[in-house]
Amino acid sequence: MCGIFGYTGQRTAAPILLEGLRTLEYRGYDSAGIFVPGHTPIKAVGPIDNLANKITGPISGTTGIAHTRWATHGSPTEANAHPHLDMSGTIAVAHNGIIENFRELKDGLVTQGIEFTSETDSEVLAKLIGTQYRGDLLKAVQAALSLVRGTYGIIVTSNHHPNEIVTARLGSPIVIGVAKDGNLISSDSSALLSYTKDVVYLEDGECAVVSKEAYEVFNLRGDKLSRKTEKIEIEASAVQKKGYEHFMLKEIMEIPEVIRDTVRGRLLADKGQVKLGGIESVMQDLLKKDRLVIVGCGSAYFAGQVGQLMLEEYAGVPVDVELGSEYRYKRNLADKNTAVLAVSQSGETADTLASVRAGKEKGLMTLGIVNAVGSTIARETDAGVYNHAGPEIAVASTKAFISQLVVLTLLTVALGREKEMTAEAGQKILRGLIELPDIIKEYLTDTSDIKKIAKKYAEYQNCMFIGRKYHAPIASEASLKLKEVTYTHSDAYAAGELKHGSIAMLDKNFPVIAIAPEDDVYEKMVSNIEEVKARQAPVLAITTAGETHLDTLVDNVLYVPKVHSVLQPIVSVIPFQLLSYYIGVEKGLNVDRPRNLAKSVTVE
Ligand code: F6R
Repeated sequence: MCGIFGYTGQRTAAPILLEGLRTLEYRGYDSAGIFVPGHTPIKAVGPIDNLANKITGPISGTTGIAHTRWATHGSPTEANAHPHLDMSGTIAVAHNGIIENFRELKDGLVTQGIEFTSETDSEVLAKLIGTQYRGDLLKAVQAALSLVRGTYGIIVTSNHHPNEIVTARLGSPIVIGVAKDGNLISSDSSALLSYTKDVVYLEDGECAVVSKEAYEVFNLRGDKLSRKTEKIEIEASAVQKKGYEHFMLKEIMEIPEVIRDTVRGRLLADKGQVKLGGIESVMQDLLKKDRLVIVGCGSAYFAGQVGQLMLEEYAGVPVDVELGSEYRYKRNLADKNTAVLAVSQSGETADTLASVRAGKEKGLMTLGIVNAVGSTIARETDAGVYNHAGPEIAVASTKAFISQLVVLTLLTVALGREKEMTAEAGQKILRGLIELPDIIKEYLTDTSDIKKIAKKYAEYQNCMFIGRKYHAPIASEASLKLKEVTYTHSDAYAAGELKHGSIAMLDKNFPVIAIAPEDDVYEKMVSNIEEVKARQAPVLAITTAGETHLDTLVDNVLYVPKVHSVLQPIVSVIPFQLLSYYIGVEKGLNVDRPRNLAKSVTVE
């Protein structure tokens, strides 16, 4: 949420800053801006292209900072765009996070006669640094930060120090890239890939001075810390579209490969066992826990709900699933015999991170299922499993959601085999997992049916998704995808719930999408579909290949390959990802960057 990018080196900074912002645009696209010492900031509302169009001539200077914004305080206007200047107009700040005590700080600054040009909390930070500046930028930043409450990832540069960037983090990610011809700073390592794979992740409470040739890391007291670089393991090509019109479609098409990458080296299929190196060290302790609490937000939360059903049915592990934003308010949080499992693609979601920290404070074991290597949740949890889904650039999660389900399946087998799962049951699931990539690859070769239905569904204003058991959370995920990518109002229900109120909504203009694979709840789903049809609602059913009845009952049917029931949600969710994608395209929407959203939600 908000992307920040800085460069100081031997090359002209402005084009590098723009390029960095383009890679970070998924973190927010309300406005963007750059500042190169010696020049005035250039800012524009809307996507990076608007900013690029404003830069009409070359901007000299080999150091600069840049920002792409997801608005929190103040509407998306040019005045509110970053970087913000101090009162002398010489120090510039780009900020990701929220300054909670900004009002009281602002009031204090205003009484000193300092004028503000924006409504943002971030400008307060710029002015505060200005008041603390006595010739040493690092000291000014440290002094200012000691006065603020809240979260920040910031980069600061100044006309007085045109070859230097000061950066600091508390709660919002900062990574320094060490390249041959200079150094870079970003809120996400994926934006550094075209320049370097050598990075230093700042920890909370750390700051750094970055110049052309060096970086020095300090804690907020000013003690110098020794921090070595780490290698990023992903390839630059992973963050490119590779011929696809949109990242979303590319990422859906990558699903077969993602499943292979997620299970690689982890399956002992003949034994029906799984090797999860990341949690081996805590496995024995984990097995002694009374329950697991899965925390996540949005799609990750729905993945957690599917995981709960798997873990309970196949591994006999009692599981609760909590929203990242709500878990901390639970009274029973302090039960020591609980382990907290955070599910997060970005590993930076503030609400999920807050749950991890709340659990840690109570002395609970914390685990993570995280895609972004080196992210905060990955580093702060006691142990965890990486998804290995590669960078997900489209804002709406597709391949990462699938990989979350795959990891949860692996965890189910890993725990189940230590508890009540037989070798044979484990073998069946793992063999199913091994076959899955080819099955999905074949399925994805022809998406024309979904495209056709998308044209019809693009006309509807409302939609209701229903499913049971594993497919109740899939209905929620499908509904979320439709909302965020196509702006269609939609809701999801466990199908049995419909008759307890929501069925009142239905009529011939309110379609229902029913997820009804031929599994152990199929017959109950068919009854629910009958109830819906009786209210004249148009029905699209998703079922498994070989099913023959629904075709006679509903308006449209889409078939997905039938797989092991625990793996079925992995397959069944794909047509909904594609349906949302094609409806979004049909409506002419920006499917990769839906309005009002950001990929990585680093504010609570
Ligand atoms: C929906 C979506 C979001 C994320 C949620 C959590 O398509 O992408 O709902 O799932 O913001 O993000 P992570 O997984 O990064 O914690």
